[in-house]
Amino acid sequence: MKTLFVITFTSVVINGALAQSFNLGPCPKVNTVENLDIERYSGLWYENERSFPMIFELGGRCVTANYSANSDGTVKVVNSQISSITGSESSITGTARVNDEACNNTTCGKLIVTFPIPVIGEVDGTYWVLETDYTTYSVVWSCTDYKAFHISYAWVLTRDRNPSEAVVKQATSLYENDNPEYIFMTKTDQENC
Ligand SMILES: *[C@@H]1O[C@H](CO)[C@@H](O)[C@H](O)[C@H]1NC(C)=O
Ligand SMILES: *[C@@H]1O[C@H](CO)[C@@H](O)[C@H](O)[C@H]1NC(C)=O
Ligand SMILES: *[C@@H]1O[C@H](CO)[C@@H](O)[C@H](O)[C@H]1NC(C)=O
Repeated sequence: MKTLFVITFTSVVINGALAQSFNLGPCPKVNTVENLDIERYSGLWYENERSFPMIFELGGRCVTANYSANSDGTVKVVNSQISSITGSESSITGTARVNDEACNNTTCGKLIVTFPIPVIGEVDGTYWVLETDYTTYSVVWSCTDYKAFHISYAWVLTRDRNPSEAVVKQATSLYENDNPEYIFMTKTDQENC
């Protein structure tokens, strides 16, 4: 029960939604960008799509992520959203860093994001950048491995709150074509923000 609570609670806080996908077996191997230019990746992103939420109402509206450099070389992460249920705005601040081990000491797109969760303490999650052109879209995937099964999440982030169809099409097709695990996606409400 505690594990389930932690998973549920952290996914709500971190992702703003129970946007998760349960699958059998360990996390699949997926392709990420080879070199992530953190500076170009910084700034404000809008959540355009996320993996289909298990509990729909918990998905927030007007979800944004703002990345900026901390003085120690890590990345400051500020996720904001408006609750679909209460209408109240909230944000959470975390820290991201390149996973040197997974990247073999390069700056590949495999990051670890840490959020301070009340009561529970610090919680780590993977944040893998599968594709980005820095200026219009980013495709992000996260997987937590429980060996017998894994839970994965995916997001399409865009620089524009209302990106063109072409941008969305490119981002979603790249995800579908290059990676082994298809995740049902749902549009994030970015109206009347
Ligand atoms: C994003 O974060 C930076 C650095 O903290 C801040 O200067 C900027 O105002 C933020 N942008 C938004 C839209 O919140
Ligand atoms: C890690 O990087 C080293 C040095 O560049 C290289 O020799 C080695 O093959 C790499 N290992 C993997 C698993 O990619
Ligand atoms: C990365 O570098 C550290 C420190 O130089 C070293 O201890 C570690 O073995 C390296 N990891 C890989 C995967 O090459």
